[in-house]
Amino acid sequence: MEQKSIRRLDELFAAEPDRLSKLSFEAAGIYFDWSKTHLDQELIGDFLGRAEAAGFARARESLFSGAIVNASEGRPATHVAERGSGSPEDVDLASARRLRMRALVDAIEGGAFGDVTGILHIGIGGSVLGPALLVDALGRRSPQFNVRFLSNIDGAAFDDAVRPLDPQSTIVVVASKTFTTLETLTNFEAARTWLSAAGVGDPDGRVVAVTANPEAAVAQGIDETRVLQFGEGVGGRYSLWSSVGVTAALALGWNEFEALLEGAAEMDRHFRFAETSANVPLLAAFADRLYAEQFGCQTRGQFAYDERLRLLPFYLQQLEMESNGKSVTNAGKPVANPTAPVTWGGTGTDAQHAVFQLLHQGTVLVPVEFVAVREGDDAQDPEHHRLLLLNAFAQGAALMQGRESDDPQRSYCGNRPSATVLLDRLDARSLGALIAFYEHRTFANAVLLGINPFDQFGVELGKQIARQIAEGSDEESLDPSTRALIERAGV
Ligand code: F6P
Repeated sequence: MEQKSIRRLDELFAAEPDRLSKLSFEAAGIYFDWSKTHLDQELIGDFLGRAEAAGFARARESLFSGAIVNASEGRPATHVAERGSGSPEDVDLASARRLRMRALVDAIEGGAFGDVTGILHIGIGGSVLGPALLVDALGRRSPQFNVRFLSNIDGAAFDDAVRPLDPQSTIVVVASKTFTTLETLTNFEAARTWLSAAGVGDPDGRVVAVTANPEAAVAQGIDETRVLQFGEGVGGRYSLWSSVGVTAALALGWNEFEALLEGAAEMDRHFRFAETSANVPLLAAFADRLYAEQFGCQTRGQFAYDERLRLLPFYLQQLEMESNGKSVTNAGKPVANPTAPVTWGGTGTDAQHAVFQLLHQGTVLVPVEFVAVREGDDAQDPEHHRLLLLNAFAQGAALMQGRESDDPQRSYCGNRPSATVLLDRLDARSLGALIAFYEHRTFANAVLLGINPFDQFGVELGKQIARQIAEGSDEESLDPSTRALIERAGV
């Protein structure tokens, strides 16, 4: 797209009296303010032309109709069907699998596993980040179960996870799409040993497996009645809507899980049917492209101004970086434009006192995103929440306005962009809609770039070399530095 000279944010506001109304939107009950970005109507027009040229409408329909959108793996991406938004066949299949999941949740709640006080959820990447986000965000007031998440292969992580759990009354949920992931299988084995060592009679009887590869789970000794299958078309980082969400369904209750899916489906309807010129995930992707391509920004900062959403930045890191951290197009050609920025972030206001110095005065331009919730947690002092919110808004204003001073050390150049996402309240429905917004924005970026957001071959090489080292095979093919490290550490 042709590079244009872009006006300062304050000039844009001065030139467009209705800028706020043109660049703030409501979708699925969430307010999105993109007015403090450098998008203007001319740029949006250009991006709309680019979206059309990239076949955006067709690509979006392919996603929702269950066509092959993950060409390198020859698969559709059926996560939208998990919340009722896909093709009728995919939706029926997902519903049937959800019924099995519900039956298991009911059975556990009905005492089929005896008195359950704790859940140890084992998984990594997409098999843990989503469930952990849901439980941390929504499960703070319902300590029906003590839920612990275990992902890292580090034994210290295992000890931390199981310490507060009673092995006699804990169920183990092992979530792995492939059921071949080293970390998950190693932790699963350790969990079995932990249960046996505590004298639990039938350790495998306390395990629920969640996977797209049920044969592998059964081969690991898990009875098929406790294996919840999900579809190959559901990518790991898009899987919290499927039976990967079973831990969240148990911890939060089935109705909450359904509400999560309904919220996501509402955002699906917006993304699928709203005019492109008022389509929030697409417009957000336009801003992403603008900063990556025309401002040369290689990073984006996402800050949750709500403790309940403290895990959101980690979830978004995988969603955006694993999906769009690519260098070749769908056709295998080098990409013409920079792809995903490095996505990082934290929690406000903590981050203000640690990293915001650079955001205000550093030499790196970082587009910033604030995610905030109008209503605080019921049990919280409302004054805390008021202060939290006004800090988020003050940061956005300060980044944009800047302030000149005779003293260069005390000068702020301003004109630094931010976007704000404001939820009315944090509940299962709004969180579902929020996560679906991010999924669709990631997809929209991929369409504009002509890349496949649904594969992740970039993670494979490191895994293969780890296996090679573990097996002690072909060590001579490794470089001297790596060989010396292996020898020094004795691994
Ligand atoms: O290594 C990356 C990855 O494949 C992610 O895409 C995935 O979410 C994670 O590992 C876990 O994989 P699995 O669910 O198959 O154990």
